[in-house]
Amino acid sequence: MMNTIFKRDILEGLNSAPKQLSSKYFYDEKGSEIFQEIMQMKSYYLPGCETEILTEKSQEIISRLPNPTYDVVELGAGDGTKTALFLDALLKSEKTINYLPLDISPEILEVNKDFLIEKFPDLNILPIAGDYFETLEKIKPRKNPKIVLFLGSNIGNFEGEKAVAFLKFVRQYLVKGDLFMLGADLKKHPQTILKAYDDPEGITKRFNLNLLHRINRELEGNFIPENYDHYASYDPLSGTTKSFLISKIKQNVQVGGQAIDFEKNEPVHMEISQKYNISDLIQLRENAGFKTDHHFTDSQKYFSISLFEY
Ligand code: AVI
Repeated sequence: MMNTIFKRDILEGLNSAPKQLSSKYFYDEKGSEIFQEIMQMKSYYLPGCETEILTEKSQEIISRLPNPTYDVVELGAGDGTKTALFLDALLKSEKTINYLPLDISPEILEVNKDFLIEKFPDLNILPIAGDYFETLEKIKPRKNPKIVLFLGSNIGNFEGEKAVAFLKFVRQYLVKGDLFMLGADLKKHPQTILKAYDDPEGITKRFNLNLLHRINRELEGNFIPENYDHYASYDPLSGTTKSFLISKIKQNVQVGGQAIDFEKNEPVHMEISQKYNISDLIQLRENAGFKTDHHFTDSQKYFSISLFEY
């Protein structure tokens, strides 16, 4: 059976002007594999910077956590490799912790648990699979103080006001004194940012085109992915990276029983990746209703892990 929400969103995007497809649908099995390739790219500096902060600054972050016990809740936990650095520092500083990784994929939560149990045999790990609407409901009744991790610059993929809305949504599940730890990519030389999203090997292009393959498979589409180029842009004023697919020719495509027309050179907006100044992050924190902020950056000041207190 076709996934009806996926079908509705894709058709809505292809029938709107300008056309758009949501990057949240990039991550099928193949898309997640290609994203792992992106994370290894030299030009994709984000994971290296975040790892440096977690390696060098975790103790400093932990010195700002007043309680002896925490539930460490991770949104979009993934495989747990980066988180291990922070958990290791927490355990060494003698905090008592429970780790609650939340992810849409039960498979990745298995990988996460196997990896972390091997490293920290005594750690209490409580994986919760599902989307945030269901999974955050499950953490609400727990009484321990919470620190919620949202790493990897995932916040950057929310358009404009949706980033604030997401933080406010998470805040509903917190109580005064709980903490939110946000990984955010910082504004820097535009060329450095552009290169991260426009690699000469074409890995990011494959990442975007993979969504057309997914639509073909899951929505009886007949896209010819070779008929589309990948185009990335970065606006240093707004700090917004945008990526598009560009129709190389005038063409007609069938998707889920509908005919969609593309003009030659017509763009399809695929993804935004927002970059921030520290002052933008302070604004985000204020708008989302958190009380205080502290920012921990890497040596190049490319990336921030920001700690917000509710
Ligand atoms: C997952 N997200 C934070 C990545 C980013 O940098 O916006 C997705 C990505 N898109 C292209 N390259 C990486």
